[in-house]
Amino acid sequence: MTLLEGDKKLVKEAINYISINSKFNELKKYKQHGHTSVYEHCVNVTCLSLWLCEKAKLNVNKYSLIKGALLHDYFLYDWHIHDKSHMLHGFTHSNTALKNALKTFHLNEIEKDIISKHMFPLTPFLPRYKESWIVTFADKISSIFEVLRIKNKLM
Ligand SMILES: [Fe+2]
Ligand SMILES: [Fe+2]
Repeated sequence: MTLLEGDKKLVKEAINYISINSKFNELKKYKQHGHTSVYEHCVNVTCLSLWLCEKAKLNVNKYSLIKGALLHDYFLYDWHIHDKSHMLHGFTHSNTALKNALKTFHLNEIEKDIISKHMFPLTPFLPRYKESWIVTFADKISSIFEVLRIKNKLM
């Protein structure tokens, strides 16, 4: 299970670009599942999404898929700490992530859809693009892997 070298390069370039221009590195200090940080989780979801596209031979907009997947949990707080500002985290964090991302980046419709719909079916808004469906699915699988402490080793 490994990514194409070209896909690895695209992910690294996107991480560099996003890190330089935003608070993306702050995600390293927040835990997502078990020992996995939100940063690692976002990279895991991105790599698994690309791998699934490759395996299923899906023709997708890779740039948008990578950007949306990297920013899908860009909510910038520790959801384990109870706080009024992020009650109902599961239902609200996708919109918070989108709002945060839009403060820094121009996002196209695919990228906005990936971020805002990735919690489907917990949130009842149906993903509109195949890129959003893939990230939504990869997010669930990556979360299970992280809870079980299984590394996907795609990067
Ligand atoms: Fe999420
Ligand atoms: Fe996620």
